[in-house]
Amino acid sequence: MSALKSLFCCPICGGRLIREERRYVCPAGHGFDVSREGYVNLLPANQQHSKAPGDDKEMTAARTRFLEGGWYLPLRERLCRLIGELAPDSPNLLDAGCGEGWYTQAAAEIVAQKRGRTAGVDLSKPAVRKAARRCPSVEFAVGTLYHLPVGNGTIDLLANCFSPLAAEEFARVVRPGGRFLYVVPGPRHLWELKAVVYERPYENEERREEYPGFRYLDVVPVETRFTLPDAQTIQDLFRMTPYYWKSPRAGAARLAELDRLTVTGQFRIHVMERTEASG
Ligand SMILES: C[S@@+](CC[C@H](N)C(=O)[O-])C[C@H]1O[C@@H](n2cnc3c(N)ncnc32)[C@H](O)[C@@H]1O
Ligand SMILES: [Zn+2]
Repeated sequence: MSALKSLFCCPICGGRLIREERRYVCPAGHGFDVSREGYVNLLPANQQHSKAPGDDKEMTAARTRFLEGGWYLPLRERLCRLIGELAPDSPNLLDAGCGEGWYTQAAAEIVAQKRGRTAGVDLSKPAVRKAARRCPSVEFAVGTLYHLPVGNGTIDLLANCFSPLAAEEFARVVRPGGRFLYVVPGPRHLWELKAVVYERPYENEERREEYPGFRYLDVVPVETRFTLPDAQTIQDLFRMTPYYWKSPRAGAARLAELDRLTVTGQFRIHVMERTEASG
């Protein structure tokens, strides 16, 4: 690959990075090696050894197996359709909290059709490693959403699927008029799974929070039902949820006995626009 301007910027001085064959370099001469898989580590120095390094290898592997089963395809397709509708020509898209790049890859195809560029950031090294292998045409960085290695107002579309929300930082990087697509679970997401693990399952709260610097354009519902055909797939899905950590032992044991489960996937895509005002 010949040297080209990157969507990423230097975590030390903030300068725009240039991508060379095997490293990224900023105008001040700070250099960052490209890994064998093709990603770069742009975590600020004080966060290199964080106690919360993002999803580990097992969580990442479970999510990869599950997503590649295609159960969430209706969500990915709806998200990509929105990206196609909302993206200007030559858009810059950032997948913030991209995981293994299952959504990023499909989004990048839409973006490439519009001659744009896609980048993904995630704190988890195992996840980013997989993402970089999965989509060589996308730039991936290990980094944190709370200090994105991305310049002010450089992003036209920011997507965040089920990842932590760093609203202030997202407002910094999305240009005025740019869009923020925030994918969250709907009230009855995975209801049947919750009904197995909890005595009294509860609905997720349906929230439409106002974030400074953004205004709501729409909340797009996506709903699907699918039958998981074996115990491994049920466990993979369970592993992806917060209930894996919170549910009572007896509930987890009940779920472990199942080798088939029909589940509702219910999602909301919150569509927001970056307002002109800086706040
Ligand atoms: C539920 S997963 C979603 C991943 C992907 N978007 C998907 O839906 O397949 C949440 C992701 O957020 C990442 N994450 C957690 N804290 C983060 C942070 N501070 N900065 C960047 N990524 C973070 C985790 O490593 C994980 O990959
Ligand atoms: Zn620098």
